[in-house]
Amino acid sequence: MTKAQPSDFNWEDLGFEYHDLPYRYRAIYRDGQWQAGEITEDSSINMSEAAAAIHYGQQVFEGLKAYRRSDGGVNIFRPDQNAARMRQSAERLLMPAFPEETFVEAVQAVVKANQDFVPPYGSGATLYIRPYLIGTGPVVGVKPADEFVFGIYVTPVGAYYKGGLTPTAYVTSPYDRAAHGGTGRAKVGGNYAASMLPGQQAHADGYSDVVYLDPRLHETIEELGSANFFGITHDNRFLTPKSPSILPSITKYSLLALAEEAGMVTEETTISIYDLDQFAEAGAMGTAAVISPVGSITHNGNKHVFYSETEVGPKTQALYDRLLGIQFGDATGPEGWAVDV
Ligand code: PLP
Ligand code: COI
Repeated sequence: MTKAQPSDFNWEDLGFEYHDLPYRYRAIYRDGQWQAGEITEDSSINMSEAAAAIHYGQQVFEGLKAYRRSDGGVNIFRPDQNAARMRQSAERLLMPAFPEETFVEAVQAVVKANQDFVPPYGSGATLYIRPYLIGTGPVVGVKPADEFVFGIYVTPVGAYYKGGLTPTAYVTSPYDRAAHGGTGRAKVGGNYAASMLPGQQAHADGYSDVVYLDPRLHETIEELGSANFFGITHDNRFLTPKSPSILPSITKYSLLALAEEAGMVTEETTISIYDLDQFAEAGAMGTAAVISPVGSITHNGNKHVFYSETEVGPKTQALYDRLLGIQFGDATGPEGWAVDV
């Protein structure tokens, strides 16, 4: 594959796609320890046909972004949180965690090596960073690999949900992405494999994503296919689902803090799919989704419209401005959130 050049990109009109940029990071775990990692140009991975990642899904990943500041520098957002979550995901799948400090340094090194691909300030685009950890050692029986690869690639991206801050429509699904005792809390590929069919059906029906309900009773909101859910009540409370089977979103924890800063009462709690009237505004939150207003949720054929199907609500807009202000370096946020590259 030919490597991408910065001149290949129209920064104002980027999709959410993979591009083969010049540099990535790779480290190998062998003989019971991590070998020294390096920046490399090779975007392919050679592994055994019996690799545990291929057959038994022994793999975890992360997602974060790099943001071009107005002074020309580059921020990454809370990379220590991604390092910690990857360690927790790895523990769930019996994989050796990648050292958290080295994770952050490696993210910085890959962004720096590809810095000409961090989209310009003001374009609205960012550089998506994808760390991953896969079991490459051969296995036949169901057991952990003895060899692993940790890697990080980066690719420039625009909005994940078409329209950015324009509200979009969501639909509940009869499928589940994860069970309460399963791997929903971990960022593992299997959760996303399980979400492809429901996601495709939702797209075919004109929705931007699926709302997953609790796997036991299908009565409370879990999360969206690729983001956590929030609702802002008429009495100014910022609510987001509490469940053992959803991804602990770093954007969610950041917005819980920013909502509190904005004077809202915040709570991780049970949110019934039959109690959506309590919300004045609702949205999706995540690294890829950023903050995307949820215009409506259709459940069992009944469509519930939140603030508006065409306009973002004022509180969602204010949280968006505050979060992006911190990420793009226009505003100062809590200590350690914006990390210079
Ligand atoms: N939920 C799912 C299923 C996701 O894929 C993501 C994206 O990472 C999120 C939530 C949001 O998590 P974060 O804010 O850490 O990106
Ligand atoms: C992210 O927001 O980083 C995600 O992982 C969502 C999706 C692209 C899988």
